[in-house]
Amino acid sequence: MSVEKALDHVDGDLNNAVERLLDLLRIPSISTDPAYKDDCDRAADWLVEDLTSIGLSASKRPTPGHPMVMAHGSDDGPHVMFYGHYDVQPVDPLNLWNTPPFEPALEETEKGRVIRGRGSSDDKGQLMTFVEACRAWKAVTGSLPAKVSIFFEGEEESGSPSLVPFMEANKEELTADVALICDTGLFGESTPAIVTRLRGLLGEELTITGPNKDLHSGMYGGIARNPVRVLAKIIASLHDHTGRIMVPGFYDGVAELPKDIAQQWTDLGFDNAEFLGEVGLGIPAGEDGRTGLEMIWSRPTCEVNGIGGGYQGDGFKTVLPSQATAKISFRLVPGQDPLKLRESFRAFVEAQLPDDCTVEFKGHGASSASEMSTDHPAFEKARSALSDEWPNPAAFVGCGGSIPIAGHFKDILGMDAMLIGFGKDDDQIHSPNEKYDLSSFHKGIRSWVRVLDALSK
Ligand code: BES
Ligand code: ZN
Repeated sequence: MSVEKALDHVDGDLNNAVERLLDLLRIPSISTDPAYKDDCDRAADWLVEDLTSIGLSASKRPTPGHPMVMAHGSDDGPHVMFYGHYDVQPVDPLNLWNTPPFEPALEETEKGRVIRGRGSSDDKGQLMTFVEACRAWKAVTGSLPAKVSIFFEGEEESGSPSLVPFMEANKEELTADVALICDTGLFGESTPAIVTRLRGLLGEELTITGPNKDLHSGMYGGIARNPVRVLAKIIASLHDHTGRIMVPGFYDGVAELPKDIAQQWTDLGFDNAEFLGEVGLGIPAGEDGRTGLEMIWSRPTCEVNGIGGGYQGDGFKTVLPSQATAKISFRLVPGQDPLKLRESFRAFVEAQLPDDCTVEFKGHGASSASEMSTDHPAFEKARSALSDEWPNPAAFVGCGGSIPIAGHFKDILGMDAMLIGFGKDDDQIHSPNEKYDLSSFHKGIRSWVRVLDALSK
């Protein structure tokens, strides 16, 4: 059986696979920070070289931002388009890392061996699971069980600004029978997951200006308007006491979860207290009357991701600041239009602004939510292949995060996307000390070996 041989090859080559991943993790490809532009380019070169080494025809494609990487195999069979992103999140606060973020290493922990470093889980470790599976098939049979194409992006963590134009311009090259995305997680320790719902994202940055300079808060405090207080009041008005978001029209088009999916999720036995306990919390803070899984998978949210204004240094300064800023993001669900909501949010803020203050907005990412139909036969094939590798059968789940391309595969190319990933909730993606379990990496590679085989049948 070729599958068994390919799986044995994966087991025997694991140390080398880890070394290759560590090599990629050493490249600080932080897409949002222009200081790392060359590093993003280097990460793309690294991938082109690695994909070429396993016999794919790979190339780096320039965009106005960071380059894309495209690769194609020469085998026959159903055509799969694998997507991952080689860019990573910034590392700050750096002082909270126990080891330097771009000096990755294999580390022994209480819960087993982990690969530590920025991007180990999101998404370099995950994208390499697929590459390593292809390498194993090639090593064992000289070919791939399917017609494989690979598409890597370098701007996912900064809102994918070049993605839509690139997809529009390369429709034919990017179209396949099905898209595969490895950028999500397992459902618990032993249960693989196929994500069928992803939330969208809308990012807004606002700066409120009051006085034309910082003022002495004794000389002016009481008569002069403080923009930090103005901002705080606006932020406080975004939710009512039941957790509902108060931006007019925010819930237009938001549907209740279909009964069958609601039942599937109930059957997953998600434990709010356990999930929150891991991060030192205990009380679900979403809308009243919603289950924990609804709060993170199927309900829209509004969160403050950053806030600033006034004196932030050590000690104390009696200042009445001229400006206050906040970065606010909305997670969106199917039915919500990000651009329409951007307008309603701005109008909502402006309506509350005192006449002697001004506000400036800067729009960040805007991507719609996506809902995958599981009718495509690839879903059952993959589900059964995953169930062969893992102790528990694969679950169809939601994901609260956003991966803009998932929706674009559908609206631009008319393709279904299947999201299978091996991350864990405690991987600390986007946070200090990001890690990827060695078992996620190893079983992730083995899973793709099996999924590729199943899809070819
Ligand atoms: N890999 C994540 C998406 C994700 C988050 C999957 C949580 C599973 C659990 C992805 O790279 C990501 O973080 N996306 C950003 C997108 C944004 C910057 C446009 C996100 O969701 O914040
Ligand atoms: Zn990711």
